[in-house]
Amino acid sequence: MQLTEEEKQMLNGDNGPEAKKAMDILVALGRSFKAKKLIEINSVHMAGSAIRVSGDAGAKFVKDSQKQGGTFKTTVTTNPTSIDPKKWDQLGISEKDHEDQQALTNAYKNMGANISNTCTPFLGGNTPRFGEHVAWGESSAVVYINSVIGARTNREGGPSGLASAITARTPEYGFHLKENRYGKVLVKIESELNDLTDYGTLGFFTGSIVGKETPVFTGMPENPTIEQMKALSAALATSGTVSMFHAVGVTPEASTLEEAFGGNEPEQTLVFNDEEKRKAENQLNTDNSSDVDWIQIGCPFATFDEIKELVDKLDGRKIHEDIAFWVTTSGQMYEMAKNSGHIETLEDAGVTIVTDTCPFMARTPEIAPKKGYEIFATNSAKMAFYTPGMLELKAHYGNIDKLVNAAIKGKWEGNHE
Ligand code: F3S
Repeated sequence: MQLTEEEKQMLNGDNGPEAKKAMDILVALGRSFKAKKLIEINSVHMAGSAIRVSGDAGAKFVKDSQKQGGTFKTTVTTNPTSIDPKKWDQLGISEKDHEDQQALTNAYKNMGANISNTCTPFLGGNTPRFGEHVAWGESSAVVYINSVIGARTNREGGPSGLASAITARTPEYGFHLKENRYGKVLVKIESELNDLTDYGTLGFFTGSIVGKETPVFTGMPENPTIEQMKALSAALATSGTVSMFHAVGVTPEASTLEEAFGGNEPEQTLVFNDEEKRKAENQLNTDNSSDVDWIQIGCPFATFDEIKELVDKLDGRKIHEDIAFWVTTSGQMYEMAKNSGHIETLEDAGVTIVTDTCPFMARTPEIAPKKGYEIFATNSAKMAFYTPGMLELKAHYGNIDKLVNAAIKGKWEGNHE
């Protein structure tokens, strides 16, 4: 692989053992993907910032890097952690998890990270521009910035993200190269997309068929919201391992079908109609009863508008006493919502606003039995997909109207009201 003088020095250990270790990782990664060179990047979003994701070995790797002098040479933001820094005890998170998480977060902080603890860093603190090369983890954010913004990143794991943060480099392969960003599968949307939950269902349906290939959507409404795009991005990367999508007339590298496919013919064509939508919703609903204990919105993390929407939908009504209702969001959105009076309104209604973590990142299989939660409900296709396996709970999946209805009445009234 072709290396610059500066890169050779890092590889030789002239800039310290951590830079050398980082270069060893990147050069090995680059060789395995036949990259011709490394490229400079402007930011890293660190996937392995929750102890539940990093595991003990991953956390030790990061803490050792920091102790041995590792420092970040580019903008670095952190993904959600396994704790809410203020409410961890109230939520049922153990003291050990609190301490272990603080130690990992401190290591990132001491290396120079922006402790954003959010899965939507593109909404503030780390917003790449069109065409910018970055090295991001967090699959939902990777799909969002590749597709909606037109920035360029592969899906980075913990070690490669750390190595990129220390060197400000990544190997040039995959989605950094224009020729790998064209669509492969045409998806014709023939069902109405009314809210973010419908976009999540579309993403779940598509990801489960296309795997890692890049889908191209036609028939999408011309002006989808940030919330709808992030729900679609998250779901595509959950049932599949999609890193990018195009929506003709909507996303920046797809002004025409021809541009989206780079002049090639689609390898496969799918149709998302009412029947496929219903089937996908049924797959995400893993409980047929009317029971529900725990309701969540904010996967990926709730925006200010989602928080405000919940205030409007509740319209002064209180959450049923048997229901725990979480809104998961970033500290930044929390502050904006607080300044606007929405946090107080929601807390008065019985909603718990959780920052910096979510039911997936926190150890829900330990927390839920302590709290007596058995049946979960969410408007997120990503979270519903993870619920049976990772959360070890059954799930109801439905839009915010269904969640609010269940929250007020204390029972789930099904998907076909
Ligand atoms: Fe974010 Fe947790 Fe969902 S990290 S994307 S809210 S699983």
